[in-house]
Amino acid sequence: MKIKYNFDVLPFSCSLQLMLVFDKIAAFKDHLNQYSKGSIIGFVPTMGALHEGHLHLVSEAKKSCNIVVVSIFVNPLQFNNSSDFDKYPITIEKDKALLEEIKCDLLFIPNATEIYSQKTRLKFDFGTLEQVMEGKFRPGHFNGVAIVLSKLFHIVSPTIVYFGQKDFQQCAVVKTLIEDLSFNMKMITVPTVREASGLAMSSRNQRLSQEGLSKASSIFAGLSQGMQVLKETRNKTKTKEQIQKIVEAACIEVEYIEIADPKTLLPADTDLRQMVICFAGFLEGVRLIDNIVVDL
Ligand code: PAJ
Repeated sequence: MKIKYNFDVLPFSCSLQLMLVFDKIAAFKDHLNQYSKGSIIGFVPTMGALHEGHLHLVSEAKKSCNIVVVSIFVNPLQFNNSSDFDKYPITIEKDKALLEEIKCDLLFIPNATEIYSQKTRLKFDFGTLEQVMEGKFRPGHFNGVAIVLSKLFHIVSPTIVYFGQKDFQQCAVVKTLIEDLSFNMKMITVPTVREASGLAMSSRNQRLSQEGLSKASSIFAGLSQGMQVLKETRNKTKTKEQIQKIVEAACIEVEYIEIADPKTLLPADTDLRQMVICFAGFLEGVRLIDNIVVDL
């Protein structure tokens, strides 16, 4: 069994309780079998380059679970664009220090060969859920997400899994995955953590310039104003136009603005009591997404 103690970060964590780091499935499962019987295991899957949004999920898990597991794995299968995969930020040492600081218990950080020891033959089809928005513009993305999460769920066997509302469609896909495959776990969706400017925190924000970061805040400004227009008029076209005007003024290229039923993610009927406005666009070559739930 290979356990790595991260002594480098001890002075920051000021704690004697060390986070254990595993990179091999067998050693990690052995450890869980030996030490986690009867525990409530909280699991936060991530792709690393951690920020306050990720850490908030870990803090939420700490409130209800005795053992909190975080995984860091940049999953090649969910990237339909190889340059997005190549440019995905990797900040392992910083991530470890942040996780130690907030007293994460176990970090699982496998490499691609460990997770994909053989080519995956299975393919997920989430039907209409993945024919819209992210599914439409990133073909194969949710298949990759579902494959890696199924593997991670089997490896970790968590009691509760934590996901961020920032990836609204991902949450709907994960809910379906858990229900349809009878994964024995509860799913908690945590609200989006934002910068003071309103910009949704994202690992991809690291690729923006200072000017880009400030322009990107117009996404949430646009969504917030769109929400007002939707509440006042229930007119989806006017709402989309308002958002588009605001983001385009900040040089953001819109990929989609959709107003959907939060349950099905299909275009919302105008008489719905709740809708979600979802946005995707590009700024400085970086793809940014966000959403806002509107109660009507
Ligand atoms: P990643 O983008 O690293 O996100 C990991 C988790 O953090 C996801 O549940 C995401 O919704 C959540 N998250 C990201 N930004 C957030 C924010 N600003 N506020 C709250 N939560 C936020 O999503 C993935 O990785 C991958 O698809 C993964 C699920 C790990 C599968 O590979």
